[in-house]
Amino acid sequence: MTERLLITSGLPYANGPLHFGHLLEHVMTDLWARYQRLAGRRVLSVCGEDTHGTSIMIRARAEGRSEEQLIAEMDAAHRRDLADFGVHYDAYGSTHSPATRRRCEVVWAALRHAGLVQQREVRQLFDPEVGTFLADRFVKGTCPSCGAPDQYGDSCERCGSTYTPADLERPYSTLSGATPEYRTAPHLFVALEPLRGFLTEFSQAPGTLQPEIALFLANNFLSAPLRDWDVSRPAPYFGFEIPDAPGHYWYVWFDAPIGYLSATEEWCEAHGERFEDWWCSEDTRITHVIGKDIVYFHTLFWPAMLKVAGYGLPRRVQVHGFLTVNGEKMSKSRGTFVLARTYLDAGLDPAYLRYYFASKLGPEVHDLDLNLEELVTKVNADLIGKVVNLASRTARFVPRLCEQYPEDGGLFAAAAAQAEEIGAAYAGFESGRAMRLIMALADRANEYVAREEPWALKKEPAKLERLREVCTVALNLYRQLVVYLAPVLPKLAEQTGALLGAPIERFSDAQRPLLGVTLGEFQPLMTRVDERRIAAMLEASRPAAASAPEPTPPAAQATASPLEVEPLAPECSLEDFQKIDLRVARVLAAEAVPKADKLLQLTLGLGGDVTRQVFAGLKASYTPEQLVGRLVVVVANLAPRPMKFGLSEGMVVAAGPPGKAVKQVYLLAPDSGAQPGERVH
Ligand code: 2FM
Ligand code: ZN
Repeated sequence: MTERLLITSGLPYANGPLHFGHLLEHVMTDLWARYQRLAGRRVLSVCGEDTHGTSIMIRARAEGRSEEQLIAEMDAAHRRDLADFGVHYDAYGSTHSPATRRRCEVVWAALRHAGLVQQREVRQLFDPEVGTFLADRFVKGTCPSCGAPDQYGDSCERCGSTYTPADLERPYSTLSGATPEYRTAPHLFVALEPLRGFLTEFSQAPGTLQPEIALFLANNFLSAPLRDWDVSRPAPYFGFEIPDAPGHYWYVWFDAPIGYLSATEEWCEAHGERFEDWWCSEDTRITHVIGKDIVYFHTLFWPAMLKVAGYGLPRRVQVHGFLTVNGEKMSKSRGTFVLARTYLDAGLDPAYLRYYFASKLGPEVHDLDLNLEELVTKVNADLIGKVVNLASRTARFVPRLCEQYPEDGGLFAAAAAQAEEIGAAYAGFESGRAMRLIMALADRANEYVAREEPWALKKEPAKLERLREVCTVALNLYRQLVVYLAPVLPKLAEQTGALLGAPIERFSDAQRPLLGVTLGEFQPLMTRVDERRIAAMLEASRPAAASAPEPTPPAAQATASPLEVEPLAPECSLEDFQKIDLRVARVLAAEAVPKADKLLQLTLGLGGDVTRQVFAGLKASYTPEQLVGRLVVVVANLAPRPMKFGLSEGMVVAAGPPGKAVKQVYLLAPDSGAQPGERVH
């Protein structure tokens, strides 16, 4: 029996449009699925809409329409964006479907049957005006530690302290502004501890997870008793009512992954296939592609549900990091919170972004930075300069390729021999390596063309046969590159197929040269990135993104949304922290450092006659005049560092992105009344 491959991407929430962060994951999955199809494997790529939960209910209410209307609109928008970015899913479903409801019932019955469902009372904040229980993120109030107003129910953005919503002073519901009150309601929990043996075996089996993820689970979740999972929410809640618990609904994260099953089931019904062959068979290899914020849903809860209900388990959960843009988390004010549609509307070719992501993706869980300047350089240098140019410099010179493949010094054979390694890189989610291998082949092909100078041959009537030979070689080397790039650049593959009179259908098309074919009419294949369009996209992202809803954290139990919170540094002990001597200082003098595009030279007074000279990266954010006289916080015991412009004897404390680029930062300052030299603690 041939192996079946089933791959999924996380289902996007139906409460907002797709942005660059989503596209990273969809492109990653699409590259893999397209490669596997080209390699002749049976593939089913699965995704769909994640539709339930409080956010969607609240948004629909606020917009005065039904949840179904909201979902239908987002479903259409998501599908259009994906199609326009060349992302193809065989099955694209929705969690708000009869098929999902049926599958939820099957899984639920199995969990009940296994004795894993328990009921307990949960005390939770309740909005008496809206009449709904409030997840922590819907409660705000004044920080109990520092008095900052409008802080979320779990932590303070100003002072960083963490607490529960009960600790907030003057709490209010973000839905209505009402003062929330505590109420108690029964919730249903799934016990996971009885499945510890299975979950340990599953998550620690070599190859199922990336090593760092397996280790993270072993050290964090599996090293203590597994907490029961709260899977129900009392009414009102937008979701499916639990059949044996009227008035209670399955929590959105219960039915979200079941959407993988139901989308497959609907596809099977439409295509005359058996659902069981895909989800209940040893012959199917299931792969989930997910972001690192939803690891434990996919490595603990979901395998537990699958196991108990008797479905196939994922053989691989491939986790990617978060996306930053120009070195920082995506930001609406900087215009880097870019929607898929805004990119397309700026007239930018989806192929650019697909190639850029492909060139950056590796097997590790690293965050990926989309540097827009690098995107321009990379696309122009690699795709236009090295690949497309091969065709545009040769395809117009000859009407027909030679009947026999000419001597090329072993170039075609050497490139053909790379197919396995390039394919393995795609299959292992290492498209960055695949791109490097392909571009190295492109360099060889370009050296050949530069050596043979077809443009010079064209001018000499006696050398027309040689010209045909050179073009036959160049166009075959070009075609080989495009075959290898076909998972990334499906449109270029299609155009190339039309130009050379033979569609690209298999990865193995790179093994044999095309001969004797008549060339089609040359059409421009791909154009250079126009930087003005990038600028227009960033500009358009400010108002467009501002009117889009705030990205919502995946769920109350998940970590915060990848785009909103920079990951925390590793934990440090109190002892470590106490080594840092932070002091109040007054800026006595400030001047720009000539020739340094980000540095200001500050003279700081730390009380008495103690002064410090500090070079600080503040030039992009403050003028010297704005700083003189104000209070700042300085790391006073940092070892002095010799810099090009002099000795820097400390560091002023500021909020904002770390790194070397010139960026906006915000100085932290004590309230007036603090005295220079006072310790900050
Ligand atoms: O994190 C998210 O955006 C979720 N909507 C992903 C769901 S993945 C799956 F479980 F459906
Ligand atoms: Zn605070």
